[in-house]
Amino acid sequence: MSSTAIKSFHQLSSRKISNGAQPIVMVTVCDSPTMRYATQGGADIVLVGDSAAMVMLGYESTMQMSHKEMEVIVGAVARTESDLPIVADMVWGSYHVSDEKAVKNAIELIHAGANAVKVEGGIERVGTIQALVSAQIPVIAHVGLTPQSILELGSYSVQGKDFSRAQRVLEDARAVQNAGASMLVVECVPDALSRAITEELDIPVIGIGAGRHVDGQVLVMNDLLGIGAGTPPKFVRKYENVESIATKAVACFAADVREGNFPSSEETYHMADDVVS
Ligand code: KIV
Repeated sequence: MSSTAIKSFHQLSSRKISNGAQPIVMVTVCDSPTMRYATQGGADIVLVGDSAAMVMLGYESTMQMSHKEMEVIVGAVARTESDLPIVADMVWGSYHVSDEKAVKNAIELIHAGANAVKVEGGIERVGTIQALVSAQIPVIAHVGLTPQSILELGSYSVQGKDFSRAQRVLEDARAVQNAGASMLVVECVPDALSRAITEELDIPVIGIGAGRHVDGQVLVMNDLLGIGAGTPPKFVRKYENVESIATKAVACFAADVREGNFPSSEETYHMADDVVS
């Protein structure tokens, strides 16, 4: 665990745009290459998101990913040379059974190399956040659209659109701050709501599909790179089309092999002529 990463996490925990600070740049990572891209590309902090369940492990929802799978991914990310703070998502089921189990599982993620953990939920998660914080584990909370609630919600849709639902998201945000969360992720809510949350809370609010009036932005790495099937949600900006670049590279290799153009003599090990004859 890098001491620079620990220090950066603490500095980020008090970074608010209302104090004139630059917005926080967070990206998700799911292996060593993506951790290198985040580091070299100048992100401030990475999230080993359980979105890896869908973008990397082929599951239909994040609810199918196991704690063991998350631990393996956090380990791979943490073994990559970088001073970025690492936040590990706690997967569904790993903090819902009891606070004791939540603390035990969070400790395993810290042992694997995380500097903090993220849990989804608001008022209903207060006890768990308090238990994690009392075990000296920094927590990032996640409100608004919480993908681990997909069975209950039925679809990944914008949350807090009418007054009473917006009020509930605001109350969730207040509750997790009061429980001791160091930062808050707000997903898929109208910008007026995320702005109100950001202005009221002392902890940084990082948005995804929550407009620009927040203390930072997070995107899923695969989405911003343009890797993956299907149409991404409207809040995603695809900065590259890595899927098409990678597909072209494989197609060129296949053509070269079939046409006898690979390997060339320079790509081949040779014996000295006198050994061969
Ligand atoms: O798992 C994830 O990628 C996330 C982000 C959407 C914040 O939780």
